[in-house]
Amino acid sequence: MTKGVGARLAALRAEIARHDHRYYVLDDPEIPDAEYDKLMAELKGLEAAHPELITADSPTQRVAGAPSGEFGEVVHQVPMLSLDNGFTEEDVAAFDRRARERLGTEGPLDYFAEPKLDGLAVTLVFKDGVLDRAATRGDGVKGEDVTPNVRTIRACPLRLHGEAPRLLEVRGEVFMPIAGFERLNREAEGRGEKTFVNPRNAAAGSLRQLDPRITAARPLRVYFYGLGVVSGWRPPETQSGLIKALETWGLPVCPHSERVRGAEGCLEYYRAMGRRRASLPYQIDGVVFKVDRRADQERLGYVSRAPRWALAQKFPAEEATTRVRAIEFQVGRTGALTPVARLEPVFVGGVTVSNVTLHNLDEVWRKDVREGDTVVVRRAGDVIPELVRVIPGRRPKPEPHRVQLPRHCPVCHSVVIKPEGEAVARCTGGFTCPAQRQEAIRHFASRRAMDIEGLGDKLVEQLVEGALVRAPADLYTLTVEQLQGLERMGEKSAANLVKAIEHSKRTTLPRLLYALGIREVGESTALALARHFGELDPLMGASEDDIQRVPDVGPVVAAHVAAFFASPEHREAIRRLRDEGVRWEPFDQGAAALPLSGQTFVLTGTLEGFSREQASEALTALGAKVSGSVSKKTRYVVAGAEPGSKLEKARSLGIEVLDEDALRRLLARHHE
Ligand code: IVH
Repeated sequence: MTKGVGARLAALRAEIARHDHRYYVLDDPEIPDAEYDKLMAELKGLEAAHPELITADSPTQRVAGAPSGEFGEVVHQVPMLSLDNGFTEEDVAAFDRRARERLGTEGPLDYFAEPKLDGLAVTLVFKDGVLDRAATRGDGVKGEDVTPNVRTIRACPLRLHGEAPRLLEVRGEVFMPIAGFERLNREAEGRGEKTFVNPRNAAAGSLRQLDPRITAARPLRVYFYGLGVVSGWRPPETQSGLIKALETWGLPVCPHSERVRGAEGCLEYYRAMGRRRASLPYQIDGVVFKVDRRADQERLGYVSRAPRWALAQKFPAEEATTRVRAIEFQVGRTGALTPVARLEPVFVGGVTVSNVTLHNLDEVWRKDVREGDTVVVRRAGDVIPELVRVIPGRRPKPEPHRVQLPRHCPVCHSVVIKPEGEAVARCTGGFTCPAQRQEAIRHFASRRAMDIEGLGDKLVEQLVEGALVRAPADLYTLTVEQLQGLERMGEKSAANLVKAIEHSKRTTLPRLLYALGIREVGESTALALARHFGELDPLMGASEDDIQRVPDVGPVVAAHVAAFFASPEHREAIRRLRDEGVRWEPFDQGAAALPLSGQTFVLTGTLEGFSREQASEALTALGAKVSGSVSKKTRYVVAGAEPGSKLEKARSLGIEVLDEDALRRLLARHHE
């Protein structure tokens, strides 16, 4: 009987381990959860009836044993080293040059390039294939025994697949995927508990728990990338071979590593990972290049605490902490009051950031940002910097007050209103508010509006402050003499500006409509209105209902447009523009149409550098239409990785297909 039970237990354990591997490592589950639960229940039942048959590698034993009082100490037989850092492309070239010089190699060296995972290093000992001990890196010589905690990481096998060496020590990084980190923080926030600052801290905090039941509830993963002590096995000749061997034992390895050739290959990998960084499911702070051949590694050896055969090439940090000096409200073109955090300047994502928008008051309250707070600021890729979160423990004492909406406009002191249910508060000063006036003029002159070259922000500020310009039409009365009196304005630039202003008098209806700065009317709505009404007068005379008939114009936009033209002040402003000689052509004869107007794009597959939404947004901003299906009317199909049937259809219809690089080039061509 027991013999039969023993066989069934072994079979169940192997089966469950196989499903864990499929689910957590391969991301390719084979059976539904309910079926998995059934296997687990059977195993637990059998083990309860035969406790003497429970083994350490049983999946029921992932969370086992009582919480310990402290971590035991583990001395690493092979020390756990650190890596030399590189920051510039020249650092990569120098690393490669030094390696080749020392090895006396003429041609390019092969490297194994890996993401530099932002987690914490661990080392695991498998004895006869069974996980025996896991430890943190500690100071590199001595670490902490975190065996019970590592056992809870479901992606980590408790027993190696296939034939295993007598002794195998593998090293890797424990990390928390971004999705899991965000979920954990959301849950903590929901319970009113402290949140983690970043995935790395969350991973470290989760692994270093004295109660492994807590660790078990945390979404930790691990990728292995190296060896410690080994006996009874001859490791492969290369790092790339080692990674493959680890993988066949069921040890998770990073899927984004690859072998590259020479410094050039390293740099290409570095740039490609930099582009992919934001869309990876885990956080990385750089990439690691390792000389691929083990024999070469041995010849290169070590300096102090780092190998000469590896380089950690860092990305500019995307997150940094700094202090909020003040929270101020900025007044926009439509009177919207936007809270802005003034920061102690901080270098993040490759630029110095000293202001971040907080969007609106609800957002300020949600994040609970206060003056004097220490905050995490993030700037990933080319995106606008954002304030991610406050570090509550660093709030000054006594606590600063919660931010309140000012009752009066900080610029013109008119009353501020915040309609019930709306996120945005507004200054009621309208055109009497210099801030609104200034923003309106700036917008009017901007490149996509009237396109007045040389009329920059500083100049607009001076013109409005000096009362030379109150309404857009005033721009057309400016003289060289008047302009020359302004800061940094010589005769020549004044004359050029007057010329540019004169030049802007010839425009198109969509540009003019956009330039007027009607609320909710961006470029594409301006184009739709121009297309529908053909001229300004019919639009000025149209009712809200008429305006709602325009494709893509809803009731809110229609109300704003009708209200704009109903205002005597605005009608006067338009009359004056006409008087000053501003003339426009209906859109179809002019060049007002956006560069991609009339072109339909279809997206398929996964793009590395942008999400679907980002790609669609970038295209529609240039006037393109993005459609979900391919037809004869499709101008381009943009195909990312693993494209679907849309690509086949495009090919069969002879439609031009763009890859991600081609899309990038096309966007770049039409931008700025
Ligand atoms: S190799 C002797 N590979 O970076 C080689 N380390 O700065 C030592 N790390 O302590 C490590 N990703 O925590 C290596 N693909 C990778 C890595 C990696 C992240 C971490 C690891 C290590 C630190 C060294």
